[in-house]
Amino acid sequence: MTDAFIPKNIIVTGGCGFIGSNFVHYVYNNHPDVHITVLDALTYAGNLENIKPILGDRVEFVHGNICDAQLLDELVPGHDAIVHYAAESHNDNSIANPEPFVKTNVEGTFRLLEAARKYDVRFHHISTDEVYGDLALDDPAKFTEETPYHPSSPYSSTKASSDMLVRAWHRTYGLRTTISNCSNNYGPYQFPEKLIPLFINNIRNDRPLPVYGKGQNVRDWLYVEDHARAIDLIFHEGKIAETYNIGGFNEWKNIDLIKVIVKTVDRLLGRPEGASEKLITYVADRAGHDLRYAIDSTKLKEELGWEPTLQFEEGIEKTVRWYLHNQKWIDNVTSGEYQRCYQDMYNQK
Ligand code: NAD
Ligand code: DAU
Repeated sequence: MTDAFIPKNIIVTGGCGFIGSNFVHYVYNNHPDVHITVLDALTYAGNLENIKPILGDRVEFVHGNICDAQLLDELVPGHDAIVHYAAESHNDNSIANPEPFVKTNVEGTFRLLEAARKYDVRFHHISTDEVYGDLALDDPAKFTEETPYHPSSPYSSTKASSDMLVRAWHRTYGLRTTISNCSNNYGPYQFPEKLIPLFINNIRNDRPLPVYGKGQNVRDWLYVEDHARAIDLIFHEGKIAETYNIGGFNEWKNIDLIKVIVKTVDRLLGRPEGASEKLITYVADRAGHDLRYAIDSTKLKEELGWEPTLQFEEGIEKTVRWYLHNQKWIDNVTSGEYQRCYQDMYNQK
């Protein structure tokens, strides 16, 4: 293990999105001496409500785009690290309109790397297991850090490109970088375009549950706070230039996962168990739909001692309860009301 890196003043890009906001809460709760600057463009996926309760002396919000070199020139000096979450993150959107993915995920990462290089700031890059492509259902293999890149979608190919930029900036310019590639996250504050929050919300509202293809695709699910803890560890104790895979060792076929969600929501809403299974509707498959992801996070366990802590059943129960108890949050997001949070806050100033 190398000497621990102890930053005091960090930039978190995309800190108003799902995983970024959970990380900001994690740092706020666990590192009282760290100042966090959240840089976020508040796209449709960014919601200032996610961090509003902790904004103040220790958490500052800057509304801006990671592609804006001039803004980065003003913002980055004085910080000792960047943790880079900002991205266009939804596969379906990338199929419908890839352009913002290339802009934010490739150009945005390039701009941040240039600023990090100019001001000699350490850089942690958040990436995805999707860069490795997909596996057959009956393949005993999992993705390791040595698996060759083979991305399938416009989204995953832009994430793979950004990983390559990070590696090149380390090798060519000596930038202090680390990269993590994580599997599917679930938990609070996830935008309801993604499978789990979308289905919880649709069950609550008696709406159809659109299952792509035959529902046989497999994903490896990790509770978002376990991800935050992994990033915190890699950021402080990971070796420069290394890549770490993060996953839950928790593979689920979509249709089996959907049935668990249905059962849990029905129980918590006091409906007969499984009553909402009638909402399951098989629809056309996603174009190029990756069949199976499976992450081997042994390296992270052996080198830094990280393991997921939450059992899946417990994590799903906690997640469903969160969405049912935070109906206002999800109603604001689905109605578009959430975009007023930023306007209201700044109109009061
Ligand atoms: P998200 O879509 O919920 O949030 C993305 C955030 O980035 C939003 O707050 C958005 O406003 C901001 N943003 C987008 N474009 C920006 C720009 N040009 N400038 C500044 N801010 C911008 O995404 P997420 O699911 O929280 O994913 C966060 C990161 O984690 C992404 O890099 C994603 O690739 C990666 N990841 C996600 C998962 C997952 O399961 N969701 C798994 C592994 C890795
Ligand atoms: O593996 C990590 C990736 O996980 C991240 O890099 C991405 O940012 C994140 O969005 C997620 O990608 P997926 O495409 O796997 O997530 P999504 O929630 O969109 O879909 C999960 C599975 O459920 C996938 O096989 C597609 C299927 N699905 C999804 C939706 C939204 C459906 O069957 N119906 C749906 O309506």
